[in-house]
Amino acid sequence: MSPQSKDSPLAPEWLSVPADLNTLEPKMWAQDAARNDSGELTVGGIPVSELQQQYGTPLFVMSEDDFRARARAFSDAFNNAFADICGGVDVYYAGKSFLCTAVVRWVEEEGLRLDTASGGELAVAAKAGIPGADVALHGNNKSDLEIHRALDMKLGRIVVDSLGELVRVGDIAERRGEQAKVMLRLTPGVHAHTHEFIATAHEDQKFGLSMAADTTEQAGLSAAEEAVAAASAHPGIELLGLHCHIGSQIFEPDGFALAAQKLLRFLAAMQEKYSIVLPELDLGGGYGIAYTSVDTPRPAAEIAEAMAAVVRSTCAELGIDSPRISIEPGRAIVGSTTFTLYEVGTLKTVRVDAPAEAGASDGGNNVTYPRRYVSVDGGMSDNARPVLYDADYSAILASRTSTAGPQLSRVVGKHCESGDIVVRDVYLPEDVAAGDLLAVPGTGAYCWALSSNYNYLARPGVVAVRDGSARLIVRGETEEDLLNRDMGV
Ligand SMILES: Cc1ncc(COP(=O)(O)O)c(C=O)c1O
Repeated sequence: MSPQSKDSPLAPEWLSVPADLNTLEPKMWAQDAARNDSGELTVGGIPVSELQQQYGTPLFVMSEDDFRARARAFSDAFNNAFADICGGVDVYYAGKSFLCTAVVRWVEEEGLRLDTASGGELAVAAKAGIPGADVALHGNNKSDLEIHRALDMKLGRIVVDSLGELVRVGDIAERRGEQAKVMLRLTPGVHAHTHEFIATAHEDQKFGLSMAADTTEQAGLSAAEEAVAAASAHPGIELLGLHCHIGSQIFEPDGFALAAQKLLRFLAAMQEKYSIVLPELDLGGGYGIAYTSVDTPRPAAEIAEAMAAVVRSTCAELGIDSPRISIEPGRAIVGSTTFTLYEVGTLKTVRVDAPAEAGASDGGNNVTYPRRYVSVDGGMSDNARPVLYDADYSAILASRTSTAGPQLSRVVGKHCESGDIVVRDVYLPEDVAAGDLLAVPGTGAYCWALSSNYNYLARPGVVAVRDGSARLIVRGETEEDLLNRDMGV
């Protein structure tokens, strides 16, 4: 056995020991998160121990000021970049990342619109009172009820995903004596994730209408074109334009730019062939954020400029006016505004052989290395992303600072599942103990939204902090909530 070295051979290659375990790396945190004089994590000046006392743990702690600032910054960056091309952009906040009525109001007050993906999300939008004209509805399998609801709310756009759905939306609207405002979701054959994108001929996924030429029964006709033709001929449809969404957690602009170029070329071809005008083009969401120290998302302005340059040059090359551009960021607005606060419970250290690829030679002495398991009072029920996508997160000791050395740790939840991991690999101070508070940053997007009641854990509440005061925007569930759907028969 050997003592814990500074860099553990058990750590993944990308993870190094931070110079100071107490430091908050600004790119992962809300702008008003900081440590106070006694070393405790605060947001908007409120210490996490106060939040724990008042609201308990686990708890999602969201900075409303940071949310608003990010929403404005994103919108300003894209509006500036596209001002000369199409007078700016419409930014639809992707509600699937995190949605409640307070957030809808913030979005509206900051001049953004709202992207929804189900009847339930539409219900939140309606309850918050946002005008339907500022709301979009997505989904690859919308029910008739959802389509009626979208029409009742006079939505600004229904993003249609397939030919069958197009006909259903058109027929329902026609029977109601209305026209549905429709965008067609296309798959441009560009997939992107973080640094790479791949361009493929076909899209092997459930969403959208393929732009590949052999995707209908008619030779040479793409599903996308078939839908354009059907939409422009249907009396119940007002075809606004085209949409695509190429992936998530994307850092580089190239994939967005290529998708924009492909859609513009297709849009120009359709306008000419069918003598129509398609005034809108939505380039989706997917802009990445920093979950760990090695994540390096580009500033929104850089991405916006790169996309604008391609839209500008492609429209010039095609000799068309640019359609009005819209985007649908979710994670990039809400992700870093929030951390999850947990209380530490059980701790256990195991000793593990170094993985062969770590190159740690034991000289035949069977050297093992410690990995400490730090159990917290939540887990995969409040953050499913590590289990679902192998997502990496980071964590800090939040209730105090520590001068203890670094110990490679795995933050795990309390569920009956060995894959119940919150942070797979992180260096935490050796003296982390039961009762300490841990904070996991970057949990604003797709954590609360994906939360579950596995093992009958109550889903945590969400606290918003603004101007130095905190309030619950979503209350945590109680045991009564958990039991009140059990019919007992
Ligand atoms: C159609 C569409 N738009 C926008 C988004 C938001 O993506 P992100 O939160 O990565 O920006 C998604 C996410 O899945 C999506 O499917």
